[in-house]
Amino acid sequence: MKSQANSLLHFPAHRPRRMRRDDWSRRLMQENVLTASNLIYPVFLLDGAHQSESVTSMPGVNRLSLDLLFPVAEECVALGIPVLALFPVIDAALKTPDGKEACNPNGLIPRAVAELKKRFPELGIMTDVALDPYTSHGQDGVLDADNRILNDETTAILVAQALTQAQAGVDIVAPSDMMDGRIQKIREALEQQNLIHTRIMAYSAKFASAFYGPFRDAVGSAKNLGKADKKTYQMDSANTDEALREVALDINEGADMVMVKPGMPYLDIVRRVKDAFEYPTYAYQVSGEYAMLKAAALNGWLDHDSVMMESLLAFKRAGADGILTYFALEAARLLKSK
Ligand code: PBG
Repeated sequence: MKSQANSLLHFPAHRPRRMRRDDWSRRLMQENVLTASNLIYPVFLLDGAHQSESVTSMPGVNRLSLDLLFPVAEECVALGIPVLALFPVIDAALKTPDGKEACNPNGLIPRAVAELKKRFPELGIMTDVALDPYTSHGQDGVLDADNRILNDETTAILVAQALTQAQAGVDIVAPSDMMDGRIQKIREALEQQNLIHTRIMAYSAKFASAFYGPFRDAVGSAKNLGKADKKTYQMDSANTDEALREVALDINEGADMVMVKPGMPYLDIVRRVKDAFEYPTYAYQVSGEYAMLKAAALNGWLDHDSVMMESLLAFKRAGADGILTYFALEAARLLKSK
């Protein structure tokens, strides 16, 4: 590369295509690898038994009651997927302005966590810490008279929710609410209760995104939320420095892992976070990203398996250590078959 003269004498001096010529040499210089260990599988949980409902805007995704989730958990173990992330569909009758069902030790999530850990001790279980599936207004916190989210009052409920989940035996609590200071409060409470092994994956850089639409259909918070948005707590998609400040706070407050969300439209954030902090970094390929790829594949406009794997590898290239993705099961099956 140094000598111009040399490269002119032996044109072309460099033939990058040589290394792309054969499968073995392409493999030899592959910089990033996706494995099942990089995948976290988010699932939607229904109360009751023998219940399965498809989510219209997420083809291939079903809300399942716990009994029907057991075979899914078993397959995750068999395929080497390390973590299952649970999202509850809460009965409308249990939703309140303060979302206090989130702290019920006999609620859907704590019961599911205890059962799953009993049957699949080797499978990591993660739960969302946020109030939106439980509130009658679909916001992630409690509101003041002007319908603004109260930060510290919300955080107090989130601490109780996280403790309830940890006491049920969950491995990872994942605050997805974006309240200020909640990681510190949750970590302090866990330490005080001697729950020193509970990991915290912080949704640190979570953007106010329209890509969450299908998720809100899936957990049934869309109609409660109506036309309201989450811009007073989730981040403005115009910002990147702010994401680094949010990640710095969560690491200082005691997070074990940090997350960027959504995924594909925010890979620049993933890269900056990984480079700046060298910390376990995750990205969430959210419901709308899944819906886009599925819809195009179902129309025959994109090749399903190829775009799925290409999209997941992009997260690794951007520096993510793992990906929360609704493709987890399909991707792990494909990886195993190869
Ligand atoms: C709840 C939460 C959301 C998602 C994960 N946890 C929705 C939101 O913030 O409105 C979105 C996940 C997805 O779209 O796949 N706080």
